[in-house]
Amino acid sequence: MSEVYDVLIIGGGPGGYNCAIRAGQLGLKVACIEGRGALGGTCLNVGCIPSKALLHASEMYEAAEKDFADLGIKASVELDLPTMMESKEKTVSALTQGIAFLFKKNKVDYIQGFGKITGNGTVEVEGKTYTAKHIVIATGSEVATLPNVDIDEKKIVSSTGALALSEVPKKMLVIGAGVIGLELGSVWRRLGAEVAVVEYLPHILPGMDGEIQKQATRMFKKQKVKFELGRKVTGVEKTKSGLSVTTEASAGGKPKDIDADVVLVAIGRRPYTNGLGLDGVGVKTDKRGFIETNYFKTSAANIWAIGDCTTGPMLAHKAEEEAVAVAELIAGKAGHVNYDVIPGVIYTSPEIACVGKTEEELKEAGIPYKSGKFPFMANSRARANHETDGFVKILAHAETDEILGAHMIGAGVSEMIAEVALAMEFKAASEDIARTCHAHPTCSEAVRQAAMDVEKWAMQM
Ligand code: FAD
Ligand code: NAI
Repeated sequence: MSEVYDVLIIGGGPGGYNCAIRAGQLGLKVACIEGRGALGGTCLNVGCIPSKALLHASEMYEAAEKDFADLGIKASVELDLPTMMESKEKTVSALTQGIAFLFKKNKVDYIQGFGKITGNGTVEVEGKTYTAKHIVIATGSEVATLPNVDIDEKKIVSSTGALALSEVPKKMLVIGAGVIGLELGSVWRRLGAEVAVVEYLPHILPGMDGEIQKQATRMFKKQKVKFELGRKVTGVEKTKSGLSVTTEASAGGKPKDIDADVVLVAIGRRPYTNGLGLDGVGVKTDKRGFIETNYFKTSAANIWAIGDCTTGPMLAHKAEEEAVAVAELIAGKAGHVNYDVIPGVIYTSPEIACVGKTEEELKEAGIPYKSGKFPFMANSRARANHETDGFVKILAHAETDEILGAHMIGAGVSEMIAEVALAMEFKAASEDIARTCHAHPTCSEAVRQAAMDVEKWAMQM
């Protein structure tokens, strides 16, 4: 029997590795078990990082091809896809190796292999049993699949295959107008594919503010993305010339077939807990397979769960917040997560970012609110950059003026949302942002002007 750890963490993604590092910082004896052969989880290996690398590269490619001329730059542009993919891989491996370095620095043991919980303080990895006072499950999520659509990661791909295509498809059909569908659809459209998106609901981006959904739909249509809204895919068949995708109206109705060379299945993700031995130790899951938790505690003593395998937004920074909180709670500190202030970003062009409540949620909850909005068209930096699409909207309580939400669409909003998140964390009023000096000319002045517009004194429109 090996030595007893304070904490054994199963999974080396943003939940697992951040929990391990924080536990190490707090002086706990900790090990992280990871089965995929590299640290970083979905996020670093096949998620956030490779997708952002390709989004950046493809955005540069499209800008060089289409936008440089307007700025007085003549460029002749050619796509070198193998180098683009190699550059993405280099970024991924540098970052995953960086985590191994951080583990050493914080005295975290890295155990390679798949873990199975065999008792309330024991985990078996490749025939060896490890013992701990606490176990943290951070095993993440996997791609949700559709009946009659068999993913081969070559022609019918999940996000993983879509991050590694060896050539640009002529026609790509995306199933699902959510975050992955729009981000990876954007990558391949920019590189030359015709992209069509079939979405079950009557609108794109479920859960986002309605005004953002409408503006984003207009923006993607302008980029020649075709939407088939209110339709579902019932099957994909391989034909001599490629793929034939059968669809029908979501409510049922006349079928319609769509041809494609590559189909991307992006209909969501489901918790991954295969082979973990949850039943054997009394860890309960809900109907959809998410581990049930009460402030990170599972139904079994001293077993905790965080990240994508639990309910809540499937986001790397949500997993990271929970990771830090659990490590602190195990160390006897007051770890906590503010679920009201978890930003969400979609890294399309323009970007989309949100934090807090949508107008629809406020209306449904009967919370009185006021709204301020400012278009990037009236922002001088956006004008200078030729990036005038979009707006910033700030929602504040009608009586107290506390900021309740912010919704942005435009170039660079992924960075600008942090200002509002910080303000909300401090329970700021919209007037606090409106009276904060912002550097000129910056796109973040649009945030200030939107905050001013809450009390209808925006001065630049
Ligand atoms: P994961 O990152 O999934 O890590 C879990 C790890 O546990 C995996 O490495 C797995 O191999 C390992 N594991 C599972 N079972 C065992 C076992 N029994 N033993 C040992 N190891 C095991 N989120 C964002 O916030 N921003 C983004 O831009 C973003 N982009 C994304 C793009 C794509 C294409 C995808 C697919 C996801 C993206 N996400 C993004 C979501 C993000 O990747 C996840 O929310 C995040 O990775 C969840 O972290 P986690 O630690 O809970 O799980
Ligand atoms: P998603 O939940 O964002 O979108 C799935 C979409 O598919 C929804 O619009 C849904 O209505 C639709 N859909 C479901 N079944 C369908 C069917 N049969 N036919 C047609 N449409 C159907 O899921 P997605 O895009 O797969 O992403 C998974 C997770 O990964 C998300 O929870 C997201 O948070 C995370 N992610 C985050 C990113 C970011 O933060 N930038 C980037 C990529 C992923």
